[in-house]
Amino acid sequence: MRILKDCNMGVKEAAEVIKEGGIVSFPTETVYGLGADVFNRKAVERVFSVKRRDPSNPLIVLIPSVDHLERVALDPPEIFWKLVEEFWPGPLTIVLKKREGVFNELTGKWPFVAVRVPGHPVPIAIMKELDSPITGPSANISGRISPISASDVISELNGLIDLLLDCGDSYFGIESTIVDLTISPARVTREGIIPVDELRKTGLDFIVEERGKKIDLGFKLILYDMDLKRAREEISKVAGNKPVITTEDGAHLYKVPVILGRRDNLHTVAKSIYRVFRILRDLNPEVVLAEPFNEPGIGRAIMGILKAASWRVVNENSRSS
Ligand code: TXA
Ligand code: MG
Repeated sequence: MRILKDCNMGVKEAAEVIKEGGIVSFPTETVYGLGADVFNRKAVERVFSVKRRDPSNPLIVLIPSVDHLERVALDPPEIFWKLVEEFWPGPLTIVLKKREGVFNELTGKWPFVAVRVPGHPVPIAIMKELDSPITGPSANISGRISPISASDVISELNGLIDLLLDCGDSYFGIESTIVDLTISPARVTREGIIPVDELRKTGLDFIVEERGKKIDLGFKLILYDMDLKRAREEISKVAGNKPVITTEDGAHLYKVPVILGRRDNLHTVAKSIYRVFRILRDLNPEVVLAEPFNEPGIGRAIMGILKAASWRVVNENSRSS
């Protein structure tokens, strides 16, 4: 696996590698992704095998601009254009009817495809060089912590891919929001960095689903899903020397606080959540406790990630032990 730090040079080489059927990892504005030629069946299959991804779980497709949409998707509904105008390029993935040329292997046999124009210059430049869409799943083994830096990708996939462009950290640190427009009303199937409230400002309504897939942390995370004040009281009673995931304002409450950022700026929390998960995993604690994020907006995505990663969720109704 080659690693390039010069991302201007790297773009040309990345395009070459992808053209020849290889796999390249690069930053996007959300997390690091894995790019391969969406029209090369072998390359697509290799992405599944590298990620150890269930074949029924489809890959996202990245396109360099909305002009390329018709190469992968069909008949976008009216509301698609509203969303695109507001949020592309950017961290919004949209599920549409797929075009015939897109392999069933890529979409997990579903007749739908998830597409986005990323808001990061590196994948855009690679796709412009190729004049073609590429795959865009996160660059981690399926079910594990998403990578937000080149060193995260190395620790996940060293030797399994052909090229890694080390162009600094991803900007946001959590994944894109996914909207499914193939059903009515439209559904948000993953709350990501764009809050549902922002989507609703376009005048459209959405049903919001819980983040389905679990995240394997390698340690037991216990999430306190209740009012923050109450959660802090409950956690303080039991924490002792256990690490507690909190924010700057809560650090003084615990012996071993693990600070995710600032509650008054949840972008800082989003940016550090996966990094903190990785650090904790490497320290190999048995149990880690976590405060809730009940704030609207990005708080919902953060809470979704914590829930997906948790071994146990303690709520008001749980019996205290
Ligand atoms: O921010 C992101 O979206 C990152 C960056 C690297 O692009 N990618 C990412 O990919 O998070 P991944 O594979 O980790 O998650 C993609 C999610 C999966 O949960 C998958 O089930 C869903 O998107 N998805 C992909 N194609 C779909 C489709 N055709 N219909 C419904 N859901 C789809
Ligand atoms: Mg992922």
